[in-house]
Amino acid sequence: MNQDYENFVRLMKLKTGIDLSLYKEAQMKRRLTSLFQKKGFQSFQEFFKNLDRDQELLQEFLDRMTINVTEFYRNRSRWEALENKILPRLLEENRSLKIWSSASSTGEEPYTISMILSRFMSMPQISILATDIDEGALERARHGIYAERSLAEMPTEDKKKHFVKDGSVYKISNDIKKTVQFKKMNLLSDPFGSGYHLIICRNVLIYFTEEAKDILYQKFSQALAPGGVLFVGSTEQIFNPGQYGLEVEDTFFYKKV
Ligand SMILES: C[S@@+](CC[C@H](N)C(=O)[O-])C[C@H]1O[C@@H](n2cnc3c(N)ncnc32)[C@H](O)[C@@H]1O
Repeated sequence: MNQDYENFVRLMKLKTGIDLSLYKEAQMKRRLTSLFQKKGFQSFQEFFKNLDRDQELLQEFLDRMTINVTEFYRNRSRWEALENKILPRLLEENRSLKIWSSASSTGEEPYTISMILSRFMSMPQISILATDIDEGALERARHGIYAERSLAEMPTEDKKKHFVKDGSVYKISNDIKKTVQFKKMNLLSDPFGSGYHLIICRNVLIYFTEEAKDILYQKFSQALAPGGVLFVGSTEQIFNPGQYGLEVEDTFFYKKV
């Protein structure tokens, strides 16, 4: 790591609590370099000086480092496996389910779970915790207003039942909104809860170093109740899940032994 970036990482940790050294270095450096160059800065040092006094630039930094890309029913076949195999087992074994969407971005992921769960139970029984490091994304999630492309993978019945079209955007129903509680949380530094029956952590681990991932799998496993499931993204298969006390229940679903 060159000195300029190393100093930047140290200063940003002090300023924001975000530890960039736990993210894959080449990727993160490339993304941030293109941002500061676009802004006309010559170095990470100059970038930091400006970030330190410009709230808007700090938000742009966060937007660039977080990558909020998401959609409803992302990789639809996995949500079908959740609905047809994983949830029926979990509901057979537990009277109620404790669920956490751990990098929920703008809300499409936790709202997808809520729509699926509404086929198994009444709305007031559904309660999902959704967390993300990016307050801007969480705010958009709380509003629940989406462009058409976010809904491309969604079954038509869900669209009809849970959304109202308003001009070119779709508004999610209050009933679904009420089932999800959004909260800011940094996966790399904040404490995890416990006793979860389902934890969804998709398309964020790919940005972290191997060491950070290893710690996170350990922590996810500890946060699960016995028989609980960790649902990961489609490029995030866990190599040797047994070392974390997990076993494969289906592709991208890991059950706590
Ligand atoms: C590509 S999105 C994935 C959204 C959703 N899980 C999905 O699969 O569609 C990655 C999300 O991870 C969040 N993120 C990045 N670093 C994080 C961290 N240290 N703690 C919590 N969330 C983080 C970003 O803010 C972003 O919203």
